[in-house]
Amino acid sequence: MQKLIINGGKRLGGEIRIQGAKNAALPIMAASVLCGEEIVIHNCPRISDVYSAMRILTYLGCKAYFDERNTAVIRAEDISGTSVSDELMREMRSSLFFLGAVLGRAGACRITLPGGCDLGPRPIDMHLAALRKMGVSIREEYGVLDCRAENGVKGAKISLSFPSVGTTENIMLAAVLAEGVTVIQNAAREPEVADLAGFLNACGARISGAGCGRIVINGVKKLHGCEYTVMPDRIVCATYLSCTAAAGGELVAYDCRPADMESILPVFEQMGCIVHASADRIYFSADRPLRAVAPIRTMVYPGFPTDAQAVVMAALCRAKGTSVFVENIFENRFKHVGELCRMGADILVEGKVAVIEGVKRLYGAKTCAADLRGGAGLITAALSAEGTSEISDIHYIDRGYEEIEKELSSAGADIIRI
Ligand code: UD1
Repeated sequence: MQKLIINGGKRLGGEIRIQGAKNAALPIMAASVLCGEEIVIHNCPRISDVYSAMRILTYLGCKAYFDERNTAVIRAEDISGTSVSDELMREMRSSLFFLGAVLGRAGACRITLPGGCDLGPRPIDMHLAALRKMGVSIREEYGVLDCRAENGVKGAKISLSFPSVGTTENIMLAAVLAEGVTVIQNAAREPEVADLAGFLNACGARISGAGCGRIVINGVKKLHGCEYTVMPDRIVCATYLSCTAAAGGELVAYDCRPADMESILPVFEQMGCIVHASADRIYFSADRPLRAVAPIRTMVYPGFPTDAQAVVMAALCRAKGTSVFVENIFENRFKHVGELCRMGADILVEGKVAVIEGVKRLYGAKTCAADLRGGAGLITAALSAEGTSEISDIHYIDRGYEEIEKELSSAGADIIRI
Protein backbone atom coordinates (compact mmCIF):
# COMPACT_ATOMS: atom_id res chain seq x y z
CA MET A 1 0.00 0.00 0.00
CA GLN A 2 1.37 3.39 -0.97
CA LYS A 3 1.88 6.23 1.50
CA LEU A 4 3.00 9.84 1.42
CA ILE A 5 5.79 10.90 3.74
CA ILE A 6 5.98 14.64 4.38
CA ASN A 7 8.59 16.56 6.33
CA GLY A 8 6.78 19.74 7.23
CA GLY A 9 7.97 23.27 7.79
CA LYS A 10 9.42 23.95 4.31
CA ARG A 11 8.29 27.15 2.64
CA LEU A 12 6.85 26.73 -0.82
CA GLY A 13 7.96 28.70 -3.85
CA GLY A 14 7.61 28.29 -7.58
CA GLU A 15 5.01 27.72 -10.24
CA ILE A 16 2.38 25.00 -10.55
CA ARG A 17 0.30 24.35 -13.65
CA ILE A 18 -3.29 23.60 -12.72
CA GLN A 19 -4.58 20.33 -14.18
CA GLY A 20 -7.85 19.88 -16.04
CA ALA A 21 -10.97 19.61 -13.91
CA LYS A 22 -11.97 16.12 -12.77
CA ASN A 23 -15.60 17.15 -12.42
CA ALA A 24 -15.69 18.38 -16.01
CA ALA A 25 -13.59 15.60 -17.58
CA LEU A 26 -15.70 12.75 -16.15
CA PRO A 27 -19.12 13.82 -17.49
CA ILE A 28 -17.45 14.79 -20.80
CA MET A 29 -15.97 11.29 -21.11
CA ALA A 30 -19.41 9.78 -20.47
CA ALA A 31 -20.89 12.21 -23.02
CA SER A 32 -18.54 10.81 -25.67
CA VAL A 33 -20.81 7.76 -25.75
CA LEU A 34 -23.40 9.95 -27.49
CA CYS A 35 -21.11 10.79 -30.41
CA GLY A 36 -20.76 8.80 -33.58
CA GLU A 37 -17.24 10.03 -34.36
CA GLU A 38 -13.84 10.39 -32.72
CA ILE A 39 -13.59 12.62 -29.66
CA VAL A 40 -10.28 14.19 -28.66
CA ILE A 41 -10.18 15.60 -25.13
CA HIS A 42 -7.25 17.87 -24.28
CA ASN A 43 -6.23 18.80 -20.73
CA CYS A 44 -7.68 15.54 -19.46
CA PRO A 45 -6.15 14.83 -16.03
CA ARG A 46 -4.32 11.53 -15.50
CA ILE A 47 -6.13 10.61 -12.30
CA SER A 48 -7.58 7.30 -11.21
CA ASP A 49 -11.21 8.39 -11.71
CA VAL A 50 -10.41 9.14 -15.37
CA TYR A 51 -8.90 5.64 -15.73
CA SER A 52 -12.11 4.23 -14.18
CA ALA A 53 -14.15 6.12 -16.80
CA MET A 54 -11.90 4.65 -19.52
CA ARG A 55 -12.51 1.15 -18.15
CA ILE A 56 -16.29 1.73 -18.30
CA LEU A 57 -15.99 3.02 -21.88
CA THR A 58 -13.97 -0.04 -22.88
CA TYR A 59 -16.51 -2.33 -21.16
CA LEU A 60 -19.22 -0.70 -23.29
CA GLY A 61 -17.28 -1.51 -26.44
CA CYS A 62 -15.72 1.93 -27.04
CA LYS A 63 -12.06 2.70 -27.60
CA ALA A 64 -10.59 4.97 -24.94
CA TYR A 65 -6.92 5.75 -24.41
CA PHE A 66 -4.41 8.52 -23.74
CA ASP A 67 -2.78 9.60 -26.99
CA GLU A 68 -0.41 12.10 -25.48
CA ARG A 69 0.29 13.10 -21.89
CA ASN A 70 -3.08 14.80 -21.25
CA THR A 71 -4.97 14.08 -24.46
CA ALA A 72 -7.58 11.33 -24.33
CA VAL A 73 -9.11 9.83 -27.46
CA ILE A 74 -12.52 8.17 -27.36
CA ARG A 75 -14.29 6.37 -30.20
CA ALA A 76 -17.80 5.25 -29.41
CA GLU A 77 -19.14 4.41 -32.88
CA ASP A 78 -18.98 0.67 -32.21
CA ILE A 79 -20.51 0.77 -28.74
CA SER A 80 -21.88 -2.72 -28.14
CA GLY A 81 -23.17 -2.79 -24.57
CA THR A 82 -25.81 -1.00 -22.54
CA SER A 83 -24.92 -2.34 -19.12
CA VAL A 84 -22.05 -1.54 -16.76
CA SER A 85 -20.74 -4.16 -14.33
CA ASP A 86 -21.23 -3.75 -10.60
CA GLU A 87 -17.46 -3.78 -10.07
CA LEU A 88 -16.98 -0.79 -12.41
CA MET A 89 -20.01 1.09 -11.06
CA ARG A 90 -18.57 0.88 -7.55
CA GLU A 91 -15.25 2.48 -8.53
CA MET A 92 -16.62 6.03 -8.45
CA ARG A 93 -19.77 8.10 -8.04
CA SER A 94 -19.33 9.55 -11.53
CA SER A 95 -20.08 6.15 -13.07
CA LEU A 96 -23.67 7.40 -12.76
CA PHE A 97 -23.12 9.74 -15.75
CA PHE A 98 -23.13 6.67 -17.95
CA LEU A 99 -26.82 6.19 -17.09
CA GLY A 100 -27.89 9.39 -18.87
CA ALA A 101 -25.36 8.96 -21.68
CA VAL A 102 -26.11 5.30 -22.52
CA LEU A 103 -29.86 5.92 -22.28
CA GLY A 104 -29.48 8.88 -24.62
CA ARG A 105 -27.53 6.79 -27.10
CA ALA A 106 -29.29 3.42 -26.91
CA GLY A 107 -32.64 3.98 -25.15
CA ALA A 108 -31.77 1.37 -22.51
CA CYS A 109 -29.25 1.02 -19.69
CA ARG A 110 -28.65 -1.45 -16.89
CA ILE A 111 -26.43 -0.40 -14.00
CA THR A 112 -26.01 -0.92 -10.27
CA LEU A 113 -25.77 1.80 -7.65
CA PRO A 114 -22.58 3.88 -7.92
CA GLY A 115 -19.73 3.93 -5.40
CA GLY A 116 -17.44 6.87 -4.62
CA CYS A 117 -16.31 8.77 -1.52
CA ASP A 118 -18.49 8.19 1.53
CA LEU A 119 -19.68 11.70 2.31
CA GLY A 120 -22.91 10.52 3.96
CA PRO A 121 -26.03 9.36 2.13
CA ARG A 122 -25.76 10.14 -1.58
CA PRO A 123 -29.18 9.24 -2.95
CA ILE A 124 -29.94 9.25 -6.69
CA ASP A 125 -33.69 9.88 -6.35
CA MET A 126 -33.52 13.17 -8.28
CA HIS A 127 -31.68 11.52 -11.19
CA LEU A 128 -34.30 8.77 -11.41
CA ALA A 129 -37.32 11.09 -11.04
CA ALA A 130 -36.00 13.30 -13.87
CA LEU A 131 -35.40 10.34 -16.20
CA ARG A 132 -38.89 8.97 -15.47
CA LYS A 133 -40.28 12.36 -16.55
CA MET A 134 -38.38 11.87 -19.81
CA GLY A 135 -40.24 8.67 -20.61
CA VAL A 136 -37.78 6.22 -19.07
CA SER A 137 -39.23 3.29 -17.12
CA ILE A 138 -36.97 2.20 -14.29
CA ARG A 139 -37.11 -1.13 -12.45
CA GLU A 140 -35.06 -1.32 -9.27
CA GLU A 141 -34.30 -4.80 -7.95
CA TYR A 142 -31.55 -5.89 -5.56
CA GLY A 143 -29.51 -2.77 -6.28
CA VAL A 144 -29.82 -3.21 -10.09
CA LEU A 145 -31.45 -0.44 -12.12
CA ASP A 146 -33.00 -1.62 -15.33
CA CYS A 147 -33.86 1.49 -17.36
CA ARG A 148 -35.70 1.52 -20.67
CA ALA A 149 -37.17 4.16 -22.93
CA GLU A 150 -39.34 1.89 -25.13
CA ASN A 151 -40.51 4.82 -27.24
CA GLY A 152 -37.26 6.75 -27.05
CA VAL A 153 -36.20 9.41 -24.52
CA LYS A 154 -38.56 12.42 -24.64
CA GLY A 155 -37.88 16.06 -23.86
CA ALA A 156 -39.57 17.26 -20.65
CA LYS A 157 -39.85 20.22 -18.31
CA ILE A 158 -38.00 19.33 -15.13
CA SER A 159 -37.90 21.45 -12.01
CA LEU A 160 -35.22 20.37 -9.53
CA SER A 161 -35.98 20.67 -5.80
CA PHE A 162 -32.23 21.27 -5.26
CA PRO A 163 -29.71 22.35 -7.92
CA SER A 164 -27.85 19.02 -7.92
CA VAL A 165 -24.76 19.03 -10.16
CA GLY A 166 -24.92 15.36 -11.12
CA THR A 167 -28.67 15.42 -11.76
CA THR A 168 -28.39 18.49 -14.00
CA GLU A 169 -25.61 16.81 -16.00
CA ASN A 170 -27.38 13.46 -16.26
CA ILE A 171 -30.52 15.16 -17.60
CA MET A 172 -28.41 17.04 -20.17
CA LEU A 173 -26.80 13.77 -21.28
CA ALA A 174 -30.16 12.04 -21.67
CA ALA A 175 -31.71 15.08 -23.38
CA VAL A 176 -29.29 16.02 -26.17
CA LEU A 177 -30.46 13.25 -28.50
CA ALA A 178 -34.02 13.09 -27.13
CA GLU A 179 -37.11 13.95 -29.13
CA GLY A 180 -38.25 17.51 -28.35
CA VAL A 181 -37.18 20.17 -25.90
CA THR A 182 -35.99 19.67 -22.32
CA VAL A 183 -36.05 22.54 -19.84
CA ILE A 184 -34.23 22.23 -16.50
CA GLN A 185 -35.43 24.72 -13.89
CA ASN A 186 -33.28 25.34 -10.78
CA ALA A 187 -30.35 23.74 -12.61
CA ALA A 188 -26.90 23.62 -10.99
CA ARG A 189 -24.81 26.64 -12.04
CA GLU A 190 -21.37 25.11 -11.44
CA PRO A 191 -18.80 26.01 -14.15
CA GLU A 192 -18.33 22.28 -14.82
CA VAL A 193 -21.97 22.11 -15.99
CA ALA A 194 -21.21 24.88 -18.49
CA ASP A 195 -18.06 22.99 -19.60
CA LEU A 196 -20.09 19.85 -20.30
CA ALA A 197 -22.54 21.95 -22.34
CA GLY A 198 -19.59 23.54 -24.17
CA PHE A 199 -18.35 20.08 -25.12
CA LEU A 200 -21.78 18.82 -26.20
CA ASN A 201 -22.44 21.97 -28.25
CA ALA A 202 -19.04 21.51 -29.92
CA CYS A 203 -20.37 18.09 -31.02
CA GLY A 204 -23.51 19.63 -32.49
CA ALA A 205 -25.89 19.66 -29.50
CA ARG A 206 -28.24 22.61 -28.95
CA ILE A 207 -27.97 23.58 -25.28
CA SER A 208 -28.45 27.10 -23.99
CA GLY A 209 -28.37 28.59 -20.50
CA ALA A 210 -25.81 26.19 -18.96
CA GLY A 211 -24.17 27.99 -16.05
CA CYS A 212 -27.51 29.68 -15.28
CA GLY A 213 -30.46 28.34 -13.34
CA ARG A 214 -32.52 27.53 -16.48
CA ILE A 215 -31.08 25.27 -19.14
CA VAL A 216 -32.86 24.57 -22.42
CA ILE A 217 -31.86 21.56 -24.53
CA ASN A 218 -33.27 21.15 -28.03
CA GLY A 219 -32.88 17.52 -29.00
CA VAL A 220 -30.87 16.84 -32.19
CA LYS A 221 -30.70 13.69 -34.34
CA LYS A 222 -26.99 12.98 -33.89
CA LEU A 223 -23.70 14.31 -32.56
CA HIS A 224 -20.43 14.45 -34.46
CA GLY A 225 -16.85 14.27 -33.23
CA CYS A 226 -14.83 17.19 -31.86
CA GLU A 227 -11.65 18.30 -30.11
CA TYR A 228 -12.27 19.91 -26.76
CA THR A 229 -10.11 21.32 -23.96
CA VAL A 230 -11.30 20.63 -20.42
CA MET A 231 -11.51 23.65 -18.09
CA PRO A 232 -8.98 24.03 -15.25
CA ASP A 233 -9.71 22.42 -11.87
CA ARG A 234 -10.73 25.12 -9.39
CA ILE A 235 -10.54 22.73 -6.42
CA VAL A 236 -7.02 21.58 -7.27
CA CYS A 237 -6.06 25.26 -7.56
CA ALA A 238 -7.63 25.97 -4.15
CA THR A 239 -5.65 23.01 -2.76
CA TYR A 240 -2.25 24.34 -3.89
CA LEU A 241 -3.12 27.82 -2.59
CA SER A 242 -4.13 26.26 0.77
CA CYS A 243 -0.83 24.36 0.89
CA THR A 244 1.08 27.61 0.29
CA ALA A 245 -1.01 29.50 2.86
CA ALA A 246 -0.33 26.75 5.44
CA ALA A 247 3.39 26.29 4.74
CA GLY A 248 4.14 29.94 3.88
CA GLY A 249 5.81 31.05 0.68
CA GLU A 250 5.00 32.29 -2.80
CA LEU A 251 3.28 30.44 -5.59
CA VAL A 252 2.23 31.20 -9.13
CA ALA A 253 -0.69 28.98 -10.17
CA TYR A 254 -1.02 29.11 -13.95
CA ASP A 255 -3.45 27.76 -16.54
CA CYS A 256 -6.20 28.27 -13.96
CA ARG A 257 -9.45 30.28 -14.10
CA PRO A 258 -9.65 32.68 -11.13
CA ALA A 259 -13.09 33.89 -12.31
CA ASP A 260 -14.48 30.51 -11.15
CA MET A 261 -13.01 31.02 -7.67
CA GLU A 262 -14.66 34.24 -6.54
CA SER A 263 -15.95 32.73 -3.31
CA ILE A 264 -12.60 31.10 -2.46
CA LEU A 265 -9.93 33.73 -3.16
CA PRO A 266 -11.30 36.36 -0.72
CA VAL A 267 -11.03 33.78 2.10
CA PHE A 268 -7.25 33.63 1.54
CA GLU A 269 -7.13 37.44 1.61
CA GLN A 270 -8.95 37.40 4.95
CA MET A 271 -6.25 35.00 6.22
CA GLY A 272 -3.69 37.68 5.36
CA CYS A 273 -2.38 36.20 2.10
CA ILE A 274 -1.77 38.33 -0.97
CA VAL A 275 -3.72 37.26 -4.04
CA HIS A 276 -3.23 38.82 -7.49
CA ALA A 277 -5.31 37.20 -10.19
CA SER A 278 -5.29 37.72 -13.96
CA ALA A 279 -7.41 35.84 -16.49
CA ASP A 280 -5.51 32.57 -16.20
CA ARG A 281 -3.00 32.84 -13.36
CA ILE A 282 -2.81 33.65 -9.68
CA TYR A 283 0.18 35.15 -7.93
CA PHE A 284 -0.13 34.10 -4.29
CA SER A 285 1.98 35.02 -1.29
CA ALA A 286 1.71 34.00 2.37
CA ASP A 287 4.39 35.74 4.36
CA ARG A 288 2.76 36.52 7.67
CA PRO A 289 1.11 34.33 10.32
CA LEU A 290 -2.41 33.53 9.15
CA ARG A 291 -5.54 35.05 10.72
CA ALA A 292 -8.88 33.33 11.36
CA VAL A 293 -11.67 34.15 8.90
CA ALA A 294 -15.38 34.97 9.07
CA PRO A 295 -17.68 31.89 9.15
CA ILE A 296 -17.61 29.88 5.91
CA ARG A 297 -20.83 28.21 4.76
CA THR A 298 -20.53 25.68 1.97
CA MET A 299 -23.11 26.36 -0.75
CA VAL A 300 -23.90 25.55 -4.32
CA TYR A 301 -22.04 27.64 -6.92
CA PRO A 302 -21.32 30.57 -6.80
CA GLY A 303 -21.09 29.98 -3.03
CA PHE A 304 -18.09 28.47 -1.26
CA PRO A 305 -17.64 24.91 -2.60
CA THR A 306 -17.92 21.94 -0.25
CA ASP A 307 -14.96 20.40 -2.11
CA ALA A 308 -12.65 23.19 -0.87
CA GLN A 309 -13.78 22.94 2.76
CA ALA A 310 -11.17 20.40 3.95
CA VAL A 311 -8.10 22.05 2.40
CA VAL A 312 -9.05 25.54 3.59
CA MET A 313 -9.84 24.18 7.06
CA ALA A 314 -6.41 22.54 7.18
CA ALA A 315 -4.76 25.87 6.36
CA LEU A 316 -6.77 27.56 9.14
CA CYS A 317 -5.62 25.13 11.88
CA ARG A 318 -2.68 27.42 12.68
CA ALA A 319 -4.44 30.74 12.02
CA LYS A 320 -4.71 33.14 14.97
CA GLY A 321 -8.27 33.15 16.31
CA THR A 322 -11.43 31.10 15.78
CA SER A 323 -12.81 30.04 12.40
CA VAL A 324 -16.15 28.31 11.78
CA PHE A 325 -17.31 26.10 8.90
CA VAL A 326 -20.95 25.20 8.28
CA GLU A 327 -21.16 22.21 5.87
CA ASN A 328 -24.48 22.52 4.07
CA ILE A 329 -24.04 20.11 1.14
CA PHE A 330 -22.97 16.72 2.52
CA GLU A 331 -23.72 15.18 5.92
CA ASN A 332 -20.46 13.40 6.51
CA ARG A 333 -17.76 15.70 5.27
CA PHE A 334 -15.68 16.23 8.41
CA LYS A 335 -13.84 12.91 8.41
CA HIS A 336 -10.49 14.70 8.13
CA VAL A 337 -11.11 16.49 11.45
CA GLY A 338 -10.12 13.55 13.67
CA GLU A 339 -6.89 13.16 11.69
CA LEU A 340 -6.11 16.90 11.88
CA CYS A 341 -6.60 16.69 15.66
CA ARG A 342 -3.99 13.89 15.78
CA MET A 343 -1.59 16.50 14.42
CA GLY A 344 -2.45 18.89 17.24
CA ALA A 345 -5.32 20.85 15.68
CA ASP A 346 -8.08 22.09 17.99
CA ILE A 347 -11.37 21.47 16.17
CA LEU A 348 -14.81 20.82 17.60
CA VAL A 349 -17.51 19.32 15.38
CA GLU A 350 -21.17 19.62 16.31
CA GLY A 351 -23.47 18.33 13.56
CA LYS A 352 -22.76 20.31 10.42
CA VAL A 353 -20.63 22.93 12.22
CA ALA A 354 -16.87 22.75 12.82
CA VAL A 355 -15.16 25.28 15.10
CA ILE A 356 -11.41 25.67 14.60
CA GLU A 357 -9.36 27.30 17.34
CA GLY A 358 -6.04 28.23 15.78
CA VAL A 359 -3.05 26.56 17.49
CA LYS A 360 0.59 27.72 17.46
CA ARG A 361 1.93 24.44 16.04
CA LEU A 362 0.91 21.24 14.36
CA TYR A 363 3.02 18.12 14.79
CA GLY A 364 3.80 15.41 12.27
CA ALA A 365 1.69 12.28 12.81
CA LYS A 366 0.55 9.06 11.17
CA THR A 367 -2.78 9.81 9.49
CA CYS A 368 -5.15 8.11 7.11
CA ALA A 369 -7.07 9.67 4.21
CA ALA A 370 -10.79 8.86 4.36
CA ASP A 371 -11.91 10.64 1.20
CA LEU A 372 -10.43 12.61 -1.72
CA ARG A 373 -10.53 16.22 -0.50
CA GLY A 374 -10.09 15.27 3.16
CA GLY A 375 -6.90 13.48 2.11
CA ALA A 376 -5.69 16.66 0.38
CA GLY A 377 -6.45 18.50 3.63
CA LEU A 378 -4.10 16.15 5.49
CA ILE A 379 -1.31 16.99 3.02
CA THR A 380 -2.00 20.70 3.54
CA ALA A 381 -1.71 20.35 7.31
CA ALA A 382 1.37 18.10 7.12
CA LEU A 383 3.25 20.70 5.05
CA SER A 384 2.86 23.19 7.90
CA ALA A 385 3.52 20.73 10.75
CA GLU A 386 6.75 20.26 12.66
CA GLY A 387 8.36 16.90 11.94
CA THR A 388 7.36 13.99 9.75
CA SER A 389 3.85 12.94 8.77
CA GLU A 390 2.77 9.74 7.11
CA ILE A 391 -0.49 9.65 5.15
CA SER A 392 -1.94 6.28 4.18
CA ASP A 393 -4.91 5.27 2.01
CA ILE A 394 -3.72 7.77 -0.59
CA HIS A 395 -5.67 6.00 -3.35
CA TYR A 396 -8.43 8.45 -2.38
CA ILE A 397 -6.13 11.38 -3.18
CA ASP A 398 -5.08 9.80 -6.49
CA ARG A 399 -8.72 9.87 -7.58
CA GLY A 400 -8.51 13.61 -8.12
CA TYR A 401 -4.91 14.86 -8.08
CA GLU A 402 -2.37 14.22 -10.81
CA GLU A 403 0.95 13.34 -9.13
CA ILE A 404 0.37 15.70 -6.23
CA GLU A 405 3.72 14.85 -4.61
CA LYS A 406 5.63 15.81 -7.79
CA GLU A 407 3.82 19.15 -8.08
CA LEU A 408 4.44 20.00 -4.43
CA SER A 409 8.08 18.91 -4.44
CA SER A 410 8.68 21.01 -7.55
CA ALA A 411 7.51 23.92 -5.39
CA GLY A 412 9.94 23.08 -2.60
CA ALA A 413 7.92 20.72 -0.38
CA ASP A 414 9.63 17.69 1.17
CA ILE A 415 7.14 15.01 0.16
CA ILE A 416 7.69 11.52 -1.23
CA ARG A 417 5.54 8.53 -2.10
CA ILE A 418 6.65 5.15 -0.79
C1 UD1 B 1 -20.80 16.93 -7.52
C2 UD1 B 1 -19.30 16.86 -7.56
C3 UD1 B 1 -18.72 16.80 -6.15
C4 UD1 B 1 -19.24 17.97 -5.32
C5 UD1 B 1 -20.76 18.05 -5.40
C6 UD1 B 1 -21.31 19.30 -4.73
C7 UD1 B 1 -18.87 15.72 -9.66
C8 UD1 B 1 -18.36 14.49 -10.34
N1 UD1 B 1 -18.90 15.67 -8.31
O1 UD1 B 1 -21.25 15.73 -6.87
O2 UD1 B 1 -17.31 16.85 -6.23
O3 UD1 B 1 -18.85 17.78 -3.97
O4 UD1 B 1 -21.19 18.08 -6.78
O5 UD1 B 1 -20.78 20.44 -5.32
O6 UD1 B 1 -19.18 16.71 -10.29
N2 UD1 B 1 -28.81 14.69 -3.77
C9 UD1 B 1 -29.97 14.02 -3.49
N3 UD1 B 1 -30.55 13.25 -4.48
C10 UD1 B 1 -30.00 13.12 -5.72
C11 UD1 B 1 -28.80 13.83 -6.00
C12 UD1 B 1 -28.22 14.60 -5.02
O7 UD1 B 1 -30.49 14.10 -2.38
O8 UD1 B 1 -30.57 12.40 -6.57
C13 UD1 B 1 -28.15 15.51 -2.72
C14 UD1 B 1 -26.79 14.94 -2.31
O9 UD1 B 1 -26.94 13.88 -1.38
C15 UD1 B 1 -26.10 16.14 -1.74
C16 UD1 B 1 -26.64 17.28 -2.60
O10 UD1 B 1 -27.83 16.78 -3.23
O11 UD1 B 1 -26.48 16.35 -0.40
C17 UD1 B 1 -25.67 17.74 -3.65
O12 UD1 B 1 -25.34 16.69 -4.50
P1 UD1 B 1 -24.95 16.89 -6.03
O13 UD1 B 1 -24.92 18.34 -6.37
O14 UD1 B 1 -25.79 15.98 -6.84
O15 UD1 B 1 -23.46 16.36 -6.00
P2 UD1 B 1 -22.78 15.31 -6.98
O16 UD1 B 1 -23.24 15.55 -8.37
O17 UD1 B 1 -22.88 13.94 -6.40
